[in-house]
Formats: sequence, C-alpha cells, structure tokens
Amino acid sequence: MQAEPCTYIIFGATGNLSRIKLMPALYHLDVAGKLPQGTRILAMGRRVWDQQKWRSEVRDMVMAKAHDAFDEQVFQRFCDRLYYHQGDLSQAECYRTLAATLGQAGQFSRNIAFYLSISPADFGNVISHLSENHLLSEEYGWRRVIIEKPFGYDLDSAQALQKRISHYLAEEQIYRIDHYLGKGMVQNVLVFRFANVMLEPLWNRNYIDHVQITHSESIGIDTRGDYYNSAGAMRDMLQSHLLQMLTLVAMEPPVSMEAEALRDEKVKVLKSIRPIPKEAVHAHAFRGQYGKGQINGERVGGYLEEAHIPTNSTTETYASMKLYIDNWRWRGVPFYLRTGKRMAKAQSSISICFRHPPLQFFRDTQVHCMAQNWVLLGIQPEECIRIEMTVKEPGLEMRTRTSSLDASFRNPNEKATDAYEDLLLDVLKGDRSLFLRFDEVEYAWRIVDPILQTWAIERDYIAVYPAGSWGPEDNRLFDKESQTWRSSLTPECK
Ligand SMILES: NC(=O)c1ccc[n+]([C@@H]2O[C@H](COP(=O)([O-])OP(=O)(O)OC[C@H]3O[C@@H](n4cnc5c(N)ncnc54)[C@H](OP(=O)(O)O)[C@@H]3O)[C@@H](O)[C@H]2O)c1
Repeated sequence: MQAEPCTYIIFGATGNLSRIKLMPALYHLDVAGKLPQGTRILAMGRRVWDQQKWRSEVRDMVMAKAHDAFDEQVFQRFCDRLYYHQGDLSQAECYRTLAATLGQAGQFSRNIAFYLSISPADFGNVISHLSENHLLSEEYGWRRVIIEKPFGYDLDSAQALQKRISHYLAEEQIYRIDHYLGKGMVQNVLVFRFANVMLEPLWNRNYIDHVQITHSESIGIDTRGDYYNSAGAMRDMLQSHLLQMLTLVAMEPPVSMEAEALRDEKVKVLKSIRPIPKEAVHAHAFRGQYGKGQINGERVGGYLEEAHIPTNSTTETYASMKLYIDNWRWRGVPFYLRTGKRMAKAQSSISICFRHPPLQFFRDTQVHCMAQNWVLLGIQPEECIRIEMTVKEPGLEMRTRTSSLDASFRNPNEKATDAYEDLLLDVLKGDRSLFLRFDEVEYAWRIVDPILQTWAIERDYIAVYPAGSWGPEDNRLFDKESQTWRSSLTPECK
C-alpha cells in the first residue's frame, strides 16, 4: 500500500501523548523519508500560541526524543509542514474556523486524518462537530479518524460510543489505536508463528502446558492520578493490550495478512474465551495495590500517597486473570495474564511453557526432574525470541542444564522504531490491520466486564504489595502446583 499525502490534524496536540509520542514519531517518519510530499501537520490547541511558538514547542518535543539523531536540516523541512490552529474544541466556532482554514486553496491536502488525542469523554462530541461542518465527507479525498484508547469504560459505554460515532463514520474510516500492535516484537509474534513451520505442530493443547503474558512497569502513575484512579490496571492494560497479545498467540492462521482476515481470526479467539461467571470471579482474577517500597534502591511511596488519589481508594494497580479458550486447539490450556505498576522490573513478555516429557528417563542419575521447555517472547524493553531446551552438562556425571536458542530480532546496528511511527504511517496507507475493529473491542469488554462489576462492589479490601516486588501472592489462580509466574527471560533465575 502506498502512503498518500495528507493533512494530519492532531486534536490535543499540546497534551502529553502528542508531546512524548506523536510529534516525535511524525518527525522520525520525515527523517526516514516516509512522509509524502505535501503532507501537513495541523495542531489543534486551545492555548493562544502563534506558529512560531508552536514550532519552538515541537523542537523541544522532538529533541527530547531524537537525542543525537536530531538533524537541523530535516527539522527545518519538518517545520514547513507544521501549523497551529487555536480553538476550544467544546465550541462550535472552533470547527467553523477549522473548516475555513482547510478550505484555503492549495494549502492543505484533501485527504485528512483526524487524530483524537483528547479525553475519551470528548470523542463523540468532536466527531459530531466535524460531521456538522462536512469535514468527514469523503467527496474530495479520504477522511480517517484515529481514536485513542480507551474505547469505552465498559461494555455498555463502548457500545454507546460506537453507536454514536457510526452515525457519522463508516467503519473503514475509523482507526482505533492499540499502540501495542505497532510494536515490532508484537508483529513478530505473527511472523514467528506463521513463517516458521517447525513450531506449528506443537502449538496446541497436546504440547503446551500453559501460557503466561506479563506486562510489568516499575513506574507508578506519574501525573495521571485522576485518569488512573477511575480506570485501574484491568481497564488500562488487561482489557486492551494483554488480550490483544493473547489473540496473536492463540489465533488460527488467517487466510491472508489483509486487515479483515487478520481481525476475523482475532475475534474468533475472543469469542471462544470461556465467560467468567460472577460467582467464579475470585477463582479467575486477582487484584492488588502497591504500598510503599523500594525501586532500584530508592524508597517510593504507596499508591494512596500519590497525587489526586483518595486515601480510601481500592483501585487496582495490579491485576491478574486466568482464561480458557474453548476451541479445538486450546481447550484446557490456561492462559495467565498479569499487569502491574511499581513492580520489580519493567517488562512485557509472553512465556509459553511446554508439557513435561512423558517419562522421566534418567531416574537412577542426578537428573531427578527435567525442566520443561519454554518459548519466551520478550516484547519490551528486551526484545527476544528464545527457546529453552534441556542439554547434558559436559563431564562424566549425568547432569542436565537449560540452554536457550536465541533468535535475536534486532542486530545492534539496527535501530528500533516507536510503535506510533508504524501506526501513523499505516493511517496514511489506509492499512487498518494493526487497528482494532469494533467487535474486537466489544468482545474484550465482555470478557472483563464481570470482573470489573464484582470488584466495583467489593470496595472494603484490596491486597497490598510492596513497591518493587513482583506483585501480591495470587497463586490460587494456577491450576497446578508446578505452575508459577515466570518473571525472567533467562534460564538461571526462573
Ligand atoms: N499520555 C499517554 O501516555 C497515553 C497513553 C495511551 C493513551 N492515551 C490517550 O491519549 C489521549 C490523550 O492523552 P494525554 O495524556 O495526552 O492527555 P492530556 O495530556 O491531558 O492532553 C489532553 C489534550 O486535550 C486538550 N484539550 C482539553 N480540553 C480541550 C478543549 N476544550 N479545547 C481544546 N483542547 C482541549 C488539552 O489542551 P491543553 O494543553 O490546553 O490543556 C491537551 O492538549 C487520551 O485519550 C488518553 O487516554 C494517552
């Protein structure tokens, strides 16, 4: 697919996401020569800034991320693409002046991507205003709307938002972001599974004991206390990113890598997940909140001491969940998902544990119990694909050790790209395969809704884990004693 020139309109351009991700990503796309000629970036902001002030702000945003890769000449070219449009998005006037600006002959491409990097509460209103000003009509060029997460707060609100926006937009115009799908290693899960024939015969209930998906962060909630306290870890991470990773691990090979084929298979996985009845929530899900502790030798406060957090909050900063996929391939294999803030280490990984060999062959030797094989997929910050095997130790004794086959994803001289670079470029190409279709979002909410509803009424108690640990003791989620959380991507210290 070819990227076409377009006008990128960023609502909320002065906000955190734009500052740390969107503007640096657009700059890096320009450095890589990926922004088609004629592409313009129009920032929408309510601050009374002029073009010069906006360009100097963007310079700071870009420099903070580009470090030594900052190139003054490219930045000047990038600057020529930048415009600032002042207005309050709650006022109808803002959209009238926007439409007039866009209508100025020859200035802006008629292909327009609207990026809604604003509060989710404003998504519906902004889209309705854009429509009233004929800015979503595709008569003279394509119109695409990128919607940040979260899409809804629960199943009902997601359906209500969808109903509202589908009044103004066709599904093909909607790009629902889950930026995890833009990560190179997440896409590599598909390549690893479907470009290598070796593992496919083993990728099922006959050989796999269980699957673990972990996203841990060592940071707390920063300045996002208001948002986080109303969301919590289940909504913020599990419902979106972790369930998406699960679909990629568990899906059947799609008929093609085309968007609809890929998303059809992901939805089938979500539909096959066994619903968790409310009375079984405690056997399937666990929550916790960080207390004070130490991270990298530094003392840090607990969640209740953070800014904007009520002192009686029971919002979870840690959530774990066990799911079963009731289909031919996965019936009976538990998938364990967990996420947490202020954990021992920042890490996203998928760990696939294979079954024990059927016989303990080496009974009369030093080898009492053979380790299981694991496939380890490090998503971030360490990117890796590793297969752990048992081998004999050199020497006269019959002892074994675990050795790993490493299929490194990136050579040291190959640069990492940020997920938002991929996704922003895909919008220009009209490629929606890494964006969510509404039924994916809907089924993901169906899975977590019973848990959220149960937790919402149980407000008296939440388990506390020390900051800097691997979270609370939630061993009762595991089906067998031999199953425990795996927190390391190396064999030495499971
Ligand atoms: N930040 C992240 O790491 C992150 C990660 C994933 C998803 N998201 C999602 O991305 C979106 C943006 O998040 P954020 O963290 O960037 O939020 P933010 O820092 O609060 O930024 C919100 C933006 O909206 C603007 N805004 C608010 N009310 C406005 C109005 N009436 N008229 C015009 N502009 C208005 C703000 O302008 P002012 O600057 O003038 O206040 C600001 O630019 C949210 O949907 C969030 O859930 C963010």
